[in-house]
Amino acid sequence: MQYSSVDDALNRATELVSMLKEKLGRVPTACVITFGCQMNARDSEKLTGILIQAGFSIISEESADFVIYNTCTVRDNANQRVYGRLGLCGGYKKKNPHMKIALCGCMMQEPSVIEKIKQSYRFVDLVFGTHNLYKFPEYLADCLEQDRQIIDIWDEPGEIEENLPVSRKYSFKSGVNIMFGCNNFCTYCIVPYVRGRERSRSPREIIRECERLAADGVVEVMLLGQNVNSYGRGLEEEISFPALLREIEKIEGIKRIRFMTSHPKDLSDELIETIKNSEKICRHIHLPLQSGSSRILKAMNRVYDKDKYVALAKKIRNEIPDVSITTDIIVGFPGETHEDVDETIDVIRQVEYDNAFTFIYSKRTGTPAASMPGQVPEDVSHKEFDRVLAEVQKYAKKQSSRFEGRIMEALVEEVNENDGSLVTGRLSNNVIVHFPGDESLIGKFVEVRLKECKGFYYLGELI
Ligand code: SAH
Ligand code: SF4
Ligand code: F3S
Repeated sequence: MQYSSVDDALNRATELVSMLKEKLGRVPTACVITFGCQMNARDSEKLTGILIQAGFSIISEESADFVIYNTCTVRDNANQRVYGRLGLCGGYKKKNPHMKIALCGCMMQEPSVIEKIKQSYRFVDLVFGTHNLYKFPEYLADCLEQDRQIIDIWDEPGEIEENLPVSRKYSFKSGVNIMFGCNNFCTYCIVPYVRGRERSRSPREIIRECERLAADGVVEVMLLGQNVNSYGRGLEEEISFPALLREIEKIEGIKRIRFMTSHPKDLSDELIETIKNSEKICRHIHLPLQSGSSRILKAMNRVYDKDKYVALAKKIRNEIPDVSITTDIIVGFPGETHEDVDETIDVIRQVEYDNAFTFIYSKRTGTPAASMPGQVPEDVSHKEFDRVLAEVQKYAKKQSSRFEGRIMEALVEEVNENDGSLVTGRLSNNVIVHFPGDESLIGKFVEVRLKECKGFYYLGELI
């Protein structure tokens, strides 16, 4: 069906959900399952907002009346997990004839995935991609009304819809997209193909969103983009990422600003200076290394080399003493040798990361690296992976213990999952601290003494 606006489609969806409610004799339920990065998490808050507005009650079980999987395809294991869960969900559908199953997100932008769904997953009712998420109200209405498989995938980005309902996971913190897509084409990475070219959102819209969030009680924002350091490129008004940060800093209710991800090739002195002079920008920089070998970095199209990266990380540590630096590392890129991995380990030793995510290279069809010679056998990658991981853990332990005994400010995020007498807070440098407290502290800033370092987190006490 064609609807004249998002509201129009949402009204129709609401009507259909209320008809379903009558038929079932209870409020219909919906479940949103998210894979992948912070971008997807943010998109899922939009999906959830729309489902709530339409009248669904949100639950976390996949036996719901409407289940949507927001997928990731950055590594093959993310894809396999989706197929596994989908099989399970198909089983629920056999017992609940009203059930609808939907798929969206990055994986759906791959033609081979769509073929597979058409052939082997006929029970899926709705499929859409990353470029048309804002059409979800329309698809939802159609899907509730019709009994055919709806598949709509776009090759090019649609509009940036500014007015979708959103249901935030946390009341006090929120992700904010500042840009979409990626232009960097690292040779191993599928993101540019499934998320499209880089587009920056206008600073006016970003500031307006942050102001609205602040008015709604949000104290911490996480600015999201695949390479936030190139923010502003292609916009009519001239604005850099540090300039955007300084504007957001002026918003009164916002007390903490985080961002993800910073590509090392574009991280400017101006950004370091802006963080240093800021009261609000958190002392945490995620600076993906990928590899410490200049030869591999070149093959990856990362644009920096080992020396440039190490110099940058050291400059950041010197200029912002309390900063924590985290990273992403890929092991087993085509052509990588034992000596290349030694170079990666050398960078870990020099930078002394506070934490690192280490991944085994996953071949993504359509990317240049997929057809490079020297694909590394799995058993070799695993061995090298263990070597890197051991080094990462050694330094992560050392780094997180450097704050022991200090009193620092934490934002309380939740009651501890395993021990109800504790709450969990996050420090500016992204380190976690558990300490005695209750629900009433959630969303508040408190001073905490970091009593005991437990490896990657602290046990503390309220001051
Ligand atoms: N834009 C971010 C990364 C987003 S993807 C950046 O450039 O830093 C998150 C991480 O997934 C990457 O940093 C990389 O380490 C990892 N990754 C991406 N493609 C991969 C692949 N094909 N195999 C293994 N890891 C991969
Ligand atoms: Fe992928 Fe590179 Fe873009 Fe990051 S910068 S999303 S790793 S292509
Ligand atoms: Fe995955 Fe897409 Fe993010 S591929 S990592 S969910 S941009």
